[in-house]
Amino acid sequence: MKKLVVIDACIRGEESRTRRIAGPILEELAKRYEITRFDLTEMPMEPLTPRTYAERAAGIIPAWALEASRTIADADRIVVVAPFWDMSFPAVVKVFFEHVSLFDITFTDNGRTCVGKCKCEKVMYITTRGMNIPTGDAREQGSSYLHALSELWDLGTVLTVAAWNLDYSTPEELEERIENTTRFGLRLAASF
Ligand SMILES: Cc1cc2nc3c(=O)[nH]c(=O)nc-3n(C[C@H](O)[C@H](O)[C@H](O)COP(=O)(O)O)c2cc1C
Repeated sequence: MKKLVVIDACIRGEESRTRRIAGPILEELAKRYEITRFDLTEMPMEPLTPRTYAERAAGIIPAWALEASRTIADADRIVVVAPFWDMSFPAVVKVFFEHVSLFDITFTDNGRTCVGKCKCEKVMYITTRGMNIPTGDAREQGSSYLHALSELWDLGTVLTVAAWNLDYSTPEELEERIENTTRFGLRLAASF
């Protein structure tokens, strides 16, 4: 069975609209993929500090980060499930990427520039935004970051499944947007 990694940063847990959209999509994908989940809300992580940076330079890398990095490099597909915070995703997602972006695992260099080492061919980014900011808008720095990371790690196509303007919708509009976005995600999942 092919391997899929889920990176979940839905800090509002059961209340999360993003997780609600992701639920049926991941259920569908679980029929075809062996899933490994990284629930970032349950992983206490700090950004690199002078100490942990020096340790890394000396080859001392926390066992969890090494294992997560190898799991990501070996995944056929990656799904990021994260709400839109401060015009991007929650900081914990960036901190996670910082820990698992490891030389000679997720990327290497060819003497001229960095080149990716990941097996992944497609990334699905599931998110919800409070403001009226469509995917690809200059104010939307979640999907643009993942496109850039895909260049560094060689992750292939990034597909975004997003609902927006949710904090300024009536309860009826909110439900409709969530349902439409879930349907869109399920259609993408069929060929993901
Ligand atoms: C800490 C925080 C920061 C947010 N920042 C933004 C933002 O910059 N732009 C925006 O459109 N919505 C922002 N929102 C609103 C969320 O994107 C929106 O409510 C989303 O649906 C929440 O997803 P969730 O239900 O999965 O937690 C923010 C919400 C929180 C709690």
